Amino acid sequence: MNPLLKKLQPYPFEKLRVLFKGIEPRAGFTPISFGIGEPKHPTPTLIRDAVINALDGLASYPATLGSEPLRAAIAAWVMQRYGLESVDPATEVLPVSGSREALFALAQTVIDSRTKKDAADAAEPPIVLCPNPFYQIYEGAALLAGAEPYFVNSDPARNFACDYSAVPDHIWARTQLLYVCSPGNPTGAVLTLENWRELFALSDKHGFVIASDECYSEIYFDETNPPLGGLEAARLLKRGFERLVMLSSLSKRSNVPGMRSGFVAGDASVLKDFLLYRTYHGAALSTVFQRASIAAWQDETHVRDNRAKYLEKFQTVTPMLADVLDVRLPDAAFYLWANVAGTGLTDTEFAARLYADYNVTVLPGSFLARSAHGTNPGEGFVRIALVAGNEECVEGARRIVEFCRSLRS
Ligand SMILES: Cc1ncc(COP(=O)(O)O)c(C=O)c1O
Repeated sequence: MNPLLKKLQPYPFEKLRVLFKGIEPRAGFTPISFGIGEPKHPTPTLIRDAVINALDGLASYPATLGSEPLRAAIAAWVMQRYGLESVDPATEVLPVSGSREALFALAQTVIDSRTKKDAADAAEPPIVLCPNPFYQIYEGAALLAGAEPYFVNSDPARNFACDYSAVPDHIWARTQLLYVCSPGNPTGAVLTLENWRELFALSDKHGFVIASDECYSEIYFDETNPPLGGLEAARLLKRGFERLVMLSSLSKRSNVPGMRSGFVAGDASVLKDFLLYRTYHGAALSTVFQRASIAAWQDETHVRDNRAKYLEKFQTVTPMLADVLDVRLPDAAFYLWANVAGTGLTDTEFAARLYADYNVTVLPGSFLARSAHGTNPGEGFVRIALVAGNEECVEGARRIVEFCRSLRS
């Protein structure tokens, strides 16, 4: 078997199952889960209908490149969303089966796994730079591509931005791929134009590819201020897409996580090799879902309605929790990243006791991060995914408040 598989870490939800093993939640409380970041709002009728109307697509193999109308719809959306004058649907966009598989497959395409030796003949595998905390796929993608993940801790004092200036030159020299997540999972933080300026300069100097995971880009709280995207930053900084690709998805924007529909857009030369890789990888998006995706990317009304639902929940729940925990409205996305250190419990103790006493599930932050540079930056935090309906979220928040108060008495 592939020895690299042994390097993979258990997924955070597996760790959560182990943590909760043997705990019987107190009777009288219905289960409420803020654990998994799976969208729960209903799929819009327009997309359900589009799937039904496209069912004859089951009779054909989908093209890896995607259909022309889908690529045109995606290119039009990217141009409109990020104010770009031109995005070539033939070479600068590629539909994928959800951003998760594409984030993984991209590393298999980009990484040259031939290990080099340093002057002392020590092996120097290529490096994939990951934010910390982070979406675990980045790490698995790096490991299975024969690279080594290098974690850059996010700093709560700087709105959870990563301090790339702390990365030593010898690490940059080996870096072939850098993942960013903006809006971030779990912190919700959005990269600023200054962050992008720094990353572009580093990529120009060291030659690595930037993969910008933007699957939460359409979940935000101020209609006049959508999160800045990587391609948009490139435009504002008057550069092209060289060594830059963004990944987006309908899962959160349109409440269709089961459709597995997303896209990658940006540097045409990276996408050309990515398409070659994908021809063999075989993850082409079903023709049925390609057609339904066109309908989804062409409609913004359902996306605005979706945001309004999140806004309502965040406006109610955030102040309730801010009374008992160190938490505030994030820049974007659907998570609250709450610091629980003030309760006197660790993040795992907090999650386990909250589950035992109130049957509410939250995810310990340490499960979403690695110990790096002397600390696990997820420690002391819990991730609260506000994905359920308003009533359930408010009830869950009410129980968390009661739980935190019970810790004080
Ligand atoms: C940060 C991040 N990136 C990517 C994904 C994958 O989303 P999908 O494959 O549904 O597009 C997720 C899913 O939860 C995520 O949290």
